[in-house]
Amino acid sequence: MQVKAPRGTYDVLPPDSKKWQFIEQIIEETAHLFGYNEIRTPVFEHTELFERGVGETTDIVTKEMYTFQDKSNRSLTLRPEGTASCVRALVEHSVYGGVMPVKWYYSGPMFRYDRPQTGRYRQFHQFGVEAFGSHSPYLDAEIIMLLVQILHNLGLIDYELHLNSVGCPVCRETYRQILITHINPVKEKLCPDCQSRYEKNPLRVLDCKIEDCKQAITDFPFIFDHLCDNCKQHYNLVKSTLEAGGIHYLHDNNLVRGLDYYTNTAFEIHIPSIGAQSAVGGGGRYNGLVKACGGPDIPGIGFALGMERLLLALDGVPEYKEPYSSLDVFLAVLDDKYDVQAMQVLERLRTAKIMADRDYTGRSMKAQMKYADKLGARIVVLMGEDEVNRGFFTIRDMQSREQLEVKSEQIISAIKDILA
Ligand code: HAM
Repeated sequence: MQVKAPRGTYDVLPPDSKKWQFIEQIIEETAHLFGYNEIRTPVFEHTELFERGVGETTDIVTKEMYTFQDKSNRSLTLRPEGTASCVRALVEHSVYGGVMPVKWYYSGPMFRYDRPQTGRYRQFHQFGVEAFGSHSPYLDAEIIMLLVQILHNLGLIDYELHLNSVGCPVCRETYRQILITHINPVKEKLCPDCQSRYEKNPLRVLDCKIEDCKQAITDFPFIFDHLCDNCKQHYNLVKSTLEAGGIHYLHDNNLVRGLDYYTNTAFEIHIPSIGAQSAVGGGGRYNGLVKACGGPDIPGIGFALGMERLLLALDGVPEYKEPYSSLDVFLAVLDDKYDVQAMQVLERLRTAKIMADRDYTGRSMKAQMKYADKLGARIVVLMGEDEVNRGFFTIRDMQSREQLEVKSEQIISAIKDILA
């Protein structure tokens, strides 16, 4: 019986894995420029971390978590996102006792049991950043600037930045009551999930993807119109800083985000050309999350980019040419009696940081040259009786098609001259 990868998962094979490495490198370099350093957390955590962190009424917690009992009967969950884990690590290692703000980035697989479609998977990958310990609206602006700079560095310029403020616990409570009053008369028209959660968390109704719910709650009041003075001022400063930085945004009253921890600034990046799942990234402030996870009352802000969706978007960018690294040198071995020497030559080349390979399947000379072409080798080094006996190598520049002979001890410098 043939076993296939589980639904909603996929393999990344070469040369596609090169694309991944390419964009990961650009993103990490950009995050470093902004002072972020990498954190690595486990792929699974205690289930209660996400229940408490992401929120009990969210779709992620109610429907999408990969939760299992381990052999000691502990309830564990494959992480559906990275923020809760960062907060857990911050608290567990008392990192907040050191220099603030703490600026972290992470990347890796996340798991959500959702209906797979283009741009939506059950195992997907995020690159995320989190900054802890500052209420400054300029940090909100900086984090959005980082997101925008990542997109620019990747060559993605056709995006929409949606921005909103979801307020603080004070203005949110007032708004919650107003929203419940608005939803109450139409509650029968809502989906069963929304009917059971609208009193506890009416914002989830606004974020519901089910058409009936969307139809039922038209003309709902916007949280933006009920922000307290502090939240308004914070939001205005974020906006004016972005404007000063030439960053174009759309104020979006419908943006409430699907996770419960957000306060104040919330944002999403959409690239409509990639289809229905157009949200390439999203994030915002979460000033109460560290405290809710057992730490001190310190604020946080961050975002995560969906790597698969970034790759989808990059497929549509003409300047984005395949970043595949082809081979520097193919060593064509003309007789298997030189196999051991060939391995020594390869070792010398690789020690000198020259990317080198050879054939291991007994190809003829002609077939080896074809194979070298396929691998995109820049140079072919021939190794036959002549070469071994005389201590010379024949080097063929596959671009200019020129051929030259070099002494064995000069092979590295000769190759480097061609590659330069
Ligand atoms: P999120 O909006 O749930 O936020 O996910 C961020 C991004 O991950 C989405 O915009 C999307 O690109 C990608 N994504 C989410 N689910 C899937 C899926 N099933 N398949 C493919 N891609 C997906 C968070 O996860 C927050 N932790 C972001 C954050 C960090 N907020 C503050 N700090």
